[in-house]
Amino acid sequence: MAARLFAVPTGARVVSQPHLRTVVVLAAGEGKRMKSALPKVLHPLLGRTLVGHVLAAAAPLAADRTVVVVGHGADQVRAHLAEIAPEATPVLQAEQLGTGHAVRIALDAAPEATGTVVVINGDVPLLRPETVAALVEAHEGAGAAATVLAAEVPDPTGLGRIVRDADGRLEQIVEERDATGAQRAIREINAGIYAFDAARLRDALGKLSTDNDQGEEYLTDVFALLGSAGEPVAVHVAADHVETLGCNDRVELATLRRLLRDRVNEAWMRTGVSLLDPDTTWIDVTVALDRDAVVDQNTQLRGGTVVGTGAVVGPDVTLIDTVVGPGATVLRSHAVGAEVGPGASVGPYAYLRPDARLAEKAKVGTFVEVKNSEVGAGAKVPHLSYVGDATIGAKANIGAATIFVNYDGVNKHRTTVGEAAFIGCDTSLIAPVEVGAGAYVAAGSAITQDVPPGALGVTRAPQRSIDGWVARKRAGTASAEAAARAQAADEDASAPGSRASEGEAIHGDAEPVGSASGAGDTATE
Ligand code: UD1
Ligand code: MG
Repeated sequence: MAARLFAVPTGARVVSQPHLRTVVVLAAGEGKRMKSALPKVLHPLLGRTLVGHVLAAAAPLAADRTVVVVGHGADQVRAHLAEIAPEATPVLQAEQLGTGHAVRIALDAAPEATGTVVVINGDVPLLRPETVAALVEAHEGAGAAATVLAAEVPDPTGLGRIVRDADGRLEQIVEERDATGAQRAIREINAGIYAFDAARLRDALGKLSTDNDQGEEYLTDVFALLGSAGEPVAVHVAADHVETLGCNDRVELATLRRLLRDRVNEAWMRTGVSLLDPDTTWIDVTVALDRDAVVDQNTQLRGGTVVGTGAVVGPDVTLIDTVVGPGATVLRSHAVGAEVGPGASVGPYAYLRPDARLAEKAKVGTFVEVKNSEVGAGAKVPHLSYVGDATIGAKANIGAATIFVNYDGVNKHRTTVGEAAFIGCDTSLIAPVEVGAGAYVAAGSAITQDVPPGALGVTRAPQRSIDGWVARKRAGTASAEAAARAQAADEDASAPGSRASEGEAIHGDAEPVGSASGAGDTATE
């Protein structure tokens, strides 16, 4: 069931690899405007961090080496890279002296790098693998010394402008703060994604000046340097400018999240998944959905979640790292690290915690919490229960308000309930304990000893009903008045000649078996 039926539909392909390639990701900046203790590139966006998205966009290049320039929050970024991209080499830029300086440090750490160097700003998470591949292909195909990814944008404020000569050839890239009024009117911008020839890049980086408004070494100056030396420099224009959007503050981050949501949702709908309300459906890029799955409104699918064919998830559901089998339903519930078997049913208002595993056609109903437990095929836990550290056999029925008492204050213990066992309502199963196959437990029991297969376990004290107690102890209350009226009616009915006088009142709990089957609404279908 855990097999992924469909990959995330990016359409990325691996570029044929005549060249040695190095990828450099620039991630040393602080991201001041995020106003965050978390380094900017570690902010999450639908299943990956910003830098995670950038690395994923470069992954199909199958580069020989990947260098990530780290600086602000270097330890945190390094720890994250070790998790998501252990093959990448973090290189420290202790002081942020500009993008040119950052790439120089990266190449110093990779002296053997030849062929193509792809440089990507760490904060362009919507970049698609196909676009990086097309940039590299164009660059290598043209034998260029340097190629910049550009885009025509509605609002170029704050970005570097692509300045072309009369023949449309790239002349230079000018930062907004260094630009003339005429240059600022240009809406073709530098996306911060480039391909370079390693040797010529190294050479140009050695010649960068800091003669600009920020006093930094600008990577973008490499283009004018190479161009004026007669080297071929090129512009590759992105088909969709949205891919080049950067992230500088949390408002932009929210905008990027919506744009990515729409992209992911559209891709799933095109593969045959029904999203009933795409505007309120948030699917991480790492999730897999099978054809004919249905996702209802206000639903979040996160991490390694997988939803099988014909399953219905939502409305109001959050699934994290959870596998939902074909034909299952999950309604108004929260699940983390759980498995919902084929045709199983969850909710409304269930909480599945790590290693809750529901077999085929199992049911976990309303206000039920399940943790580290197997619920067998066709077994039911319909209402108001806690199931922790348990194994529940196939077709067992767990009555309302059953608690699997798994924790003694120090250790957790397991409970086993056998196949087709029946647990009456309001029962505590005090672990470690085993209820055998086909056994019954009377409602209201606290079970501390194993119940053999086919036996009835019952721990209730016999009931006493003390006649007249309310009249004596609660005189004058509504209860006392109601009791008095009922007693008067009873006396009328039992007057000689009335039919009811032939019956007999039962006081006490003479027949526990009847009480067990009297679990009543636990025998749900
Ligand atoms: C840069 C480009 C600009 C382009 C824009 C696209 C330069 C000089 N300008 O501007 O033309 O339109 O990106 O978003 O390159 N970084 C380091 N070390 C540094 C400085 C920056 O690693 O010393 C990293 C940052 O973390 C960031 C990336 O490089 O990921 C870009 O830096 P940033 O300061 O955002 O450059 P912009 O001013 O946006
Ligand atoms: Mg920037």
